[in-house]
Amino acid sequence: MGIVLSFCKKSFKPQNVPNVQKETEPLKYYLPNFIGDTDIMVMSHFLHRYLFQSNYNAPIEEKLTSEQCKILDVCCGAGTWLLDMASAYGSSKFFGIDLCPVFPTEIKPENLQFVQGDVLTGLPFDDNTFDYVHQGHMLDVYTMDQWHFIITEIIRVCKPGGYIEFIEPELATNTGPILSKFYDALVELSETRNVNIRMYDDLIRILSSTPSVQNVESKKKVISLGSKRGGYVGYEYMEIHNGFFLNVPMPETLSKFMGLSEEDYLELFKIAKSEVENDISPDCEVYKIWCQKR
Ligand SMILES: C[S@@+](CC[C@H](N)C(=O)[O-])C[C@H]1O[C@@H](n2cnc3c(N)ncnc32)[C@H](O)[C@@H]1O
Repeated sequence: MGIVLSFCKKSFKPQNVPNVQKETEPLKYYLPNFIGDTDIMVMSHFLHRYLFQSNYNAPIEEKLTSEQCKILDVCCGAGTWLLDMASAYGSSKFFGIDLCPVFPTEIKPENLQFVQGDVLTGLPFDDNTFDYVHQGHMLDVYTMDQWHFIITEIIRVCKPGGYIEFIEPELATNTGPILSKFYDALVELSETRNVNIRMYDDLIRILSSTPSVQNVESKKKVISLGSKRGGYVGYEYMEIHNGFFLNVPMPETLSKFMGLSEEDYLELFKIAKSEVENDISPDCEVYKIWCQKR
């Protein structure tokens, strides 16, 4: 699940890391500036690895095990996917880029480098550099124009014959009436920023109509939200899902949009949670979409 609309705040200041922006300056995108959000990213990585039984779906296993590949994770966040991959494939070189330095700077495998940078100013890598480029959980971040830009950039830095892969969740379906209120508000709030939070169809359409890539494929996994139908996986996903709506500053942002006080927002979300646990188990779809550069 994605991360809340956020502002760089005093509450997240890793040691020895410069502030990315002035504290008072609002950011124009969604950021995990809070420890709680970093936890969500880490949990979500392991949950998705379990769901798909792999860290990737593109056919890169043979290359990764037999060659020295170069792999990039765009907007890598806490870098958990990269840490996992770099530990598993020691002969390849891994790179992560993110605007916020929430990735580890010291305790990491030697074959892994992190770069701090704004991907929307272009990826700071030469054309045809990487064998595989990965990006995850940006559905609530990029506008449509930004999606077009970043896909062009990802294709540019990928080698011909190399693979590109995205992992994105969709908002749950079959939600009860109260949770639906939160979803509707979130979708509307995103639309005010020209962000389409239900991105799967668009992503497939963009890749399928891009002549420089081929073999567009996807795989879907469905999780039942909450432990009632979803068991342990559903319980964990519910934790991630709740963090998305409850971590600072989403209550402040979304409550205003819903015309509620923050207190009423939190109370209403408790009802949304009990709706899931007692009554209705929404289905959450997670997609991997991959393709090959010609
Ligand atoms: C929802 S998190 C996803 C993190 C990671 N990909 C994952 O799957 O856990 C979004 C990430 O995008 C980063 N981000 C947002 N806009 C960015 C930009 N313009 N340039 C670089 N990173 C950006 C944020 O800092 C954050 O780490």
